[in-house]
Amino acid sequence: MSHYWTDLVRRLTPYVPGEQRAGADVVKLNTNENPYPPSEQVLTAISNVSADSVRRYPDSQSIKLRESLARYHQVDVEQVFVGNGSDEILALAFMAFFQGKSTLQFPEISYSFYPVYCDLMNIEAQEIALNSDYTIPLEKFGSAQTSSDNCGGIIFPNPNAPTGIAVTREQIEKLLKENPDVVILIDEAYADFGAESAISLIHRYPNLVVSQTFSKGRSLAGLRLGAAFASRPLIDGLVRTKDSFNSYPVDAIAQAAGIASIQDEQYYRDTIGKICQTREATTKKLTDLGFRVLPSQANFIFASPGANGKGPNGRTAEDIFQSLDGKNILVRHWNKPGLKDWLRITIGTDNEMGRFFKAIQSLT
Ligand SMILES: Cc1ncc(COP(=O)(O)O)c(C=O)c1O
Repeated sequence: MSHYWTDLVRRLTPYVPGEQRAGADVVKLNTNENPYPPSEQVLTAISNVSADSVRRYPDSQSIKLRESLARYHQVDVEQVFVGNGSDEILALAFMAFFQGKSTLQFPEISYSFYPVYCDLMNIEAQEIALNSDYTIPLEKFGSAQTSSDNCGGIIFPNPNAPTGIAVTREQIEKLLKENPDVVILIDEAYADFGAESAISLIHRYPNLVVSQTFSKGRSLAGLRLGAAFASRPLIDGLVRTKDSFNSYPVDAIAQAAGIASIQDEQYYRDTIGKICQTREATTKKLTDLGFRVLPSQANFIFASPGANGKGPNGRTAEDIFQSLDGKNILVRHWNKPGLKDWLRITIGTDNEMGRFFKAIQSLT
């Protein structure tokens, strides 16, 4: 605390990222990173970036990268925006579409950055409780629950985080049809792992924004690169906001690496396929051990130890988290109502999951 801080900064409760513990012995299953490296083509593109490219400012519009993304997703280049990680794109979208409007709706159990941005930007949040099976009750969003002028926007991840449960494109389309007057932002950070993307709907729904990231499916969390897809007027709104904040958010190295990663499609299909296989095997094994595991379409699973919150040898989620931590196996646990009986476990390699299960089975 410092008396130089503004009142707003005093009041903030910042987002707490998962621990980045280093060491050869650490099994990191706590921040939903990809356990496989980026493709060789990406690493080559990074090392081929010229001295001139880093001496100069990068292309502020990231045209080549946006063209690659536009071709890949069959949209126009004017319907693509890129940013320094999808977190930055979300922040710009909150500024461009939600700040100064009425309440922003999102699920009560969801990505914990949304309430942080609301506090930062003075946006009133309306958190909508999940169903008892942890699905998102989309019928309670938008004008369905409140009078339409009370809803200033809607955001949720698909699949949701930390549950991993996805909604269908058809459900999203219904929500868009029912709520044409507010921006609906679908955060597809984990869509590479099985959920239906809503990107194709941007051609018909001018109020839809879809954000994606290179951090998860494309193994580039350390590079900080994200993308958004929307109708041209919404992309123009993001560009106006970006250019009033930081006109060069995507550096020359990230632009080159992003293009190379889009070109090496087969590599990513293979690594994503392996992660999905390991996810299914992990789900089955944990279920056999008595855990309740939600059906995940992401690169993580949300698991609760036992029907009454007690796992192997009567251990609670917090106990298991602490024991694993002591063995340098990091998973995520939140000591908060609604979340304290659950662990979010990122899917690692088969080897890493082997170490995880050995540790789980050795709990005494
Ligand atoms: C739901 C969700 N959205 C967005 C992000 C941000 O990803 P990035 O800023 O790495 O693109 C994350 C990161 O974990 C996430 O879980």
